[in-house]
Amino acid sequence: MSQQQQPQTQAIRLQTQKTAQMEHSTPLFLTSSFTYHSAEEMASAFADDSLDINIYSRFSNPTVDEFINKITALEGAEDGVATGTGMAAVFSTFMTFLSKGDHIISASAVFGSTHTILTKYLPKWGFEFSYFDMNQPETIEALIKPNTKILYVETPSNPGLDIIDLEYVAAICKKYKVLFVVDNCFATPAVQQPIKWGADLVLHSATKFIDGQGRVLGGVVVGRKDLIKELYLFVRNTGPSLSPFNAWVLSKSLETLYVRMDRHAENALELATHLQGHAKLSSVKYPMLLSHPQHAIAKKQMSNGGGIVTFELKGGIESGRTFLNALQMLSMTNNLGDSRSIASHPASTTHSKLSDAERAAVGITPGLIRISVGLEHIKDIIKDIEQALEKC
Ligand SMILES: Cc1ncc(COP(=O)(O)O)c(C=O)c1O
Repeated sequence: MSQQQQPQTQAIRLQTQKTAQMEHSTPLFLTSSFTYHSAEEMASAFADDSLDINIYSRFSNPTVDEFINKITALEGAEDGVATGTGMAAVFSTFMTFLSKGDHIISASAVFGSTHTILTKYLPKWGFEFSYFDMNQPETIEALIKPNTKILYVETPSNPGLDIIDLEYVAAICKKYKVLFVVDNCFATPAVQQPIKWGADLVLHSATKFIDGQGRVLGGVVVGRKDLIKELYLFVRNTGPSLSPFNAWVLSKSLETLYVRMDRHAENALELATHLQGHAKLSSVKYPMLLSHPQHAIAKKQMSNGGGIVTFELKGGIESGRTFLNALQMLSMTNNLGDSRSIASHPASTTHSKLSDAERAAVGITPGLIRISVGLEHIKDIIKDIEQALEKC
């Protein structure tokens, strides 16, 4: 029956089986392990790695499974694996599908810690990587080598809001039999479903819009059953599993994902439109502004522009500091995807480990401010940003 339901309904109604208590809200199975009726049942639970019996919460847990099942349905995937953080989802995916000597191609515009994995750790262990510019997807094909195993993108990217045509990249990956992995954290499945455009695996930092209230960390990867089975065995044995408590919070959060993303996007579009041409700013970026370089692609593959707006202060790094210090309501923190609007300065925080040249290559200029547009009344969000800009 759930197959016929709309995703907005599945986000609310998919859940573990009701217990004998007949609870209405979904239960939380906060248990490390599970028990058996007999020694024979226990022995059979261990006999097959993929058996559908709960053994231990590092392997599986009904609350975690509920969260996985929901994201799997919303992304249009076959199966999924949950992890303790978004970075655990990224790292586990790389470790499962790369073998020594393999090559990974990634957009250079990726989250700071993903960049660190690609540039610092993978080469140390004998993996090769190549970067391409999100604004030049025509350069991807020339980078593919016989040992290329993964092509990795974030779209929209953090924090540059670069967008890539998923269908175009998927066709290249299919031609060369390369695994196409997409970090869909900024859009969420409520806005964009990369599998529909040909992605093999989609991953998330559930810490962001999926939680939506800045409470817990989490990650998830969804995709084809055969791929997910390999990833599941990696996570089950190496241990970056999601806590059942966090899974319960995230699963409850999914009940409001679609309405939240609509309001985030509505507020973000209004803010971006308002700030365009502002005297203190040299640019404003939002996927649904006509001025966004990949606006046409955003219109094709995203149902709205999401909740992140960026702008460049004319006064550079000093203005960035003045702006943040002048804010009265917006939170100064580096998380995003919260009901509370957040301002951050990537050059001095999330991307501070990159060199100036590396930051410039991914569009992070000294005065770049990232606003995660929350669910407060848009008039209050604009008022606070306006008064802080006045002081710059
Ligand atoms: C696009 C993107 N991917 C991955 C991550 C990492 O997620 P986590 O902090 O849950 O490990 C982040 C965190 O900001 C992110 O923005």
